[in-house]
Amino acid sequence: MENLQGKTAFITGAASGIGLGIAKACAVHGMNVVLTDARRDALDEAIVYFKGKGYPAHAIQLDVTDREAYVKAADEAERVFGKIHVLVNNAGVAAGGGPVYNASFKDWDFIISVNCTGVVNGVSIIVPRILKHGEGGHVVSTSSTAGIFAVGGSGLYCATKYFVAGLMESLASDLEGTGVGASVFCPGPVASNLGFTSEAVRPEHLKKTKEEMPEMPKDMPKDFPDFSKYFMTPEEVGERVVRGIMRNDLVIWTHPEFRNGIKVRNDALLRAIPAEPFNAERAEVLKNFGTLTYNPIYEKQTTPGPLDWDPEKN
Ligand SMILES: NC(=O)c1ccc[n+]([C@@H]2O[C@H](COP(=O)([O-])OP(=O)(O)OC[C@H]3O[C@@H](n4cnc5c(N)ncnc54)[C@H](O)[C@@H]3O)[C@@H](O)[C@H]2O)c1
Repeated sequence: MENLQGKTAFITGAASGIGLGIAKACAVHGMNVVLTDARRDALDEAIVYFKGKGYPAHAIQLDVTDREAYVKAADEAERVFGKIHVLVNNAGVAAGGGPVYNASFKDWDFIISVNCTGVVNGVSIIVPRILKHGEGGHVVSTSSTAGIFAVGGSGLYCATKYFVAGLMESLASDLEGTGVGASVFCPGPVASNLGFTSEAVRPEHLKKTKEEMPEMPKDMPKDFPDFSKYFMTPEEVGERVVRGIMRNDLVIWTHPEFRNGIKVRNDALLRAIPAEPFNAERAEVLKNFGTLTYNPIYEKQTTPGPLDWDPEKN
């Protein structure tokens, strides 16, 4: 999507952090913005920025796990702005740190419902609407660097973010030739409120009792150094997402510091291929199974240059 002017973006988890940064960047690039979030009070605060700048924006309270409410929110967005062109599945939570074999089913059910089912709901409810109007569009879903290579002690988070990456890469293949693009967005550390909001949106029946809370390690350092000044800002990553939409990137990556992490995982996968003779006959047969052994979608990805962005703008 090269021209975003006058087009409409529907963003989930838009009242805080990365979602709000993406919403601001979309508005700066001339889009109508539908901010959706599970938290009404946070939405009321977030919308003030857009009204103050005179940007066309509309807030809708939406819990992405609620399918009925999701359909109503999509209808409302279309009533206000006519059409939806860009969907950003950004709402997400963190839950259940520590060894994954100790994770509680409450944590699993909670994190899967938001990080996986929430994205499924967005794709199923909004993408057919984008395809129907025929003006083109784009879908971005927020995964993580932890959705591309694993991080110890974060098994639940990694599993759900791998889910998002796989879904988006397959969706991008399905959307080839339709005028609608798809990107998996993989931010590294970004200053946000994820720790707080993850507990704030946790439904009552999945809240953990005191006994179910993991014990804090006794030798935890009292004073952690404050690393937050090294985190990217939501506004900067928002601008990176808008650039990714305009470039039709398959993967929107934020941090060059994670290059080695990608490399060692991909190298490990290549090393895992058995050193056995290549069966040319089988390879020929497998070519009949669409993109099973080779998907050209990956060939399109090129390297973006340094971000050309003025932090004063958003
Ligand atoms: N902050 C980081 O370093 C980082 C890194 C990689 C990926 N991410 C991902 O970025 C996304 C945004 O998180 P953030 O870091 O900006 O955190 P954040 O807490 O600042 O924002 C998340 C927003 O999502 C909303 N939300 C949560 N559950 C919801 C639900 N069921 N329905 C609707 N809204 C819901 C919250 O109310 C909140 O406003 C998440 O998917 C997160 O996993 C964050």
